[in-house]
Amino acid sequence: MTFFDTHAHLNDEQFTGGPAEVISRARQAGVEQMIAVGTSHDSSLACLAIAEEFSGVFAAVGIHPNSSADAAADDWSKIVSLSEHAKVVALGETGLDLHWDYAPLSLQQDFFDRHIRLSQQCGKPFIVHMRDCEREIVAMLEEARRRGPLRGVMHSFTGDAALAQECLELGLSISFAGMVTFKKSDALRETAAAIPQDRLLIETDSPYLSPHPLRGKRPNEPARVVHTAACLAEVRNIELSALALQTTQNARRLFLAPLEN
Ligand code: NI
Repeated sequence: MTFFDTHAHLNDEQFTGGPAEVISRARQAGVEQMIAVGTSHDSSLACLAIAEEFSGVFAAVGIHPNSSADAAADDWSKIVSLSEHAKVVALGETGLDLHWDYAPLSLQQDFFDRHIRLSQQCGKPFIVHMRDCEREIVAMLEEARRRGPLRGVMHSFTGDAALAQECLELGLSISFAGMVTFKKSDALRETAAAIPQDRLLIETDSPYLSPHPLRGKRPNEPARVVHTAACLAEVRNIELSALALQTTQNARRLFLAPLEN
């Protein structure tokens, strides 16, 4: 049984021992593939370096909405260059965040738009961060969809079933992180149970938010994606091995298939 953690910030300084031991524990847990996700030019470079060093580790490069005000003038063109690298399998994380106030919405929208357009150009999927901005996100995705097909994922999804349906209709996949395992997350589990089996992904978003029963134990790490997988298998009423197979195949199809073309 193998798992694919589609979202881990492996360069994070909370991993005080560096990525090697985290990746080795992940492999021991059956997590054979993972994506190291950048949030700025510097962290994207760091994620790519990790991906180059370890087999089974891939990188996403991009500028997070909360980092967009800190981006230097030429950071975006550097991200575009990095995106051509063979071990870069996605663009992001991108999206919008109206919970925090690190960057004006218009700037966040500008960067989100650049990631989507680059994705539509190069075929690599984009990774969407969404916090307190559902309508703003859907509006931009709908506009982008009128230009062409979308290839991407709603990461660490916490929206309701109606929003999930809108995203599915736009062609996106839905990824669940530790939050879906929390005791109070009954509604989110119900939403997760109804995602079509070919659009479902799992992730840790590590080092943040460890899944139940490790909630509060920091840092979270890719090995713990197995707990999220077990929770989803239970609510979807299938064996863990079937859930592992489906989500791993989905991740490979979304992130790795474009490399093979
Ligand atoms: Ni993230």
